[in-house]
Amino acid sequence: MTSYLLRGVSVVGAAPTDLLIRDGLISTEEGPAEVIDAAGLVALPGLVDLHTHLREPGREDAETVETGSRAAALGGYTAVFAMANTSPVADTAGVVEQVWRLGREAGLVDVQPIGAVTVGLAGKQLAELGAMATSAAGVRIFSDDGHCVADPRLMRRALEYVKAFDGIIAQHAEEPRLTEGAQMHEGEVSTRLGLTGWPAVAEEAIIARDVLLAEHVGSRLHVCHVSTAGSVEVLRQAKARGVRVTAEVTPHHLLLTDELAASYDPVYKVNPPLRTQSDVLALREALIEGVIDIVATDHAPHAVEDKECEWAYARPGMVGLETALPIVLSILGEQWDLIAERMSRAPARIAGLDGHGTDLAAGAPANLTLVDPSARRVVDPAELASRSRNTPYAGTTLPGRIVATFLRGEPTVLDGKAVK
Ligand code: DOR
Ligand code: ZN
Repeated sequence: MTSYLLRGVSVVGAAPTDLLIRDGLISTEEGPAEVIDAAGLVALPGLVDLHTHLREPGREDAETVETGSRAAALGGYTAVFAMANTSPVADTAGVVEQVWRLGREAGLVDVQPIGAVTVGLAGKQLAELGAMATSAAGVRIFSDDGHCVADPRLMRRALEYVKAFDGIIAQHAEEPRLTEGAQMHEGEVSTRLGLTGWPAVAEEAIIARDVLLAEHVGSRLHVCHVSTAGSVEVLRQAKARGVRVTAEVTPHHLLLTDELAASYDPVYKVNPPLRTQSDVLALREALIEGVIDIVATDHAPHAVEDKECEWAYARPGMVGLETALPIVLSILGEQWDLIAERMSRAPARIAGLDGHGTDLAAGAPANLTLVDPSARRVVDPAELASRSRNTPYAGTTLPGRIVATFLRGEPTVLDGKAVK
């Protein structure tokens, strides 16, 4: 196993130093090592994404565990959590083990499957949560993402069930009766365009209900892709009361607004929808404060025919793994400790993921990424490693280039290129 010496690297923004990677660990042991000139580069603990759609099994034309893993490594990630809305749905030990095994075979990031809460994501009957938890995949997070667990009785039972092993229910908060036929955020722009709106209250009502349920049960709730200022207020109050709730925001909800729907370009169609500028500002503030704990990508690759069609028929979602860190960097600036916390340490801690999101100190597993903050990149969809091209950032210049990523001391990315 090759050893690496990162010469002159800034660890999470600190003064330049040398960082040695040996036998899969951050090390202090002297000896031969390949030298990487890391002057001007910043080392972060490998990023951890709690919300990735890898599409395998079922839609390998849009993404596979391997292509999604490569996109993740190129984005600076060392671990991703794969959502359960595959085909078949990841609602049994068999499917989650398959995804977990495919992740190990690809060997580019640690792939941790998320299990479905309900059978077939149908919202009628609890899936085999216990069997998934005790499977080789060791599932701890369950989500029907793409769908809301709308039935309050089922949501309560799910929270009760996972409490026994400190599991988490990750909710896609969308009251379905309030979003029937919805195409975009409900507001001035939807009125102008004549498109059916997805009101903020459809998200806020479910979050309010679920924090009460989580409080009642004493169990852990995670809120996926928070998108409104009102949701932030509900979360702020719940956290102040000590409810065991955590929350994520996506890079696109931190940057883009519903005005983009006026182009009728389905690349901007996403669920929850892009909101208003005041929502964007509230989300940024909440992320900085910690009311929102983490950034998660909601990387949602879609095949060309599912995206390049009329707005109403297009599937919601955008790819995000390869642009997440540059977007966050463009918003937060070089607040490296905050970025490490929101994109690596906190997600690893929430998921209970050992070996990721740890300080880059001697003896720690060498899961890390090297960023060149001074580089600029124009996003070219054709250059993405993801099998899908549905990025809203085509042609946009973004700061920060991921130069290298190491998974347990082995490079998965070197010189900005995937090693396999
Ligand atoms: O935009 C989205 N795409 N939101 C979701 O909740 C699901 C996801 C997908 O699976 O494409
Ligand atoms: Zn979702």
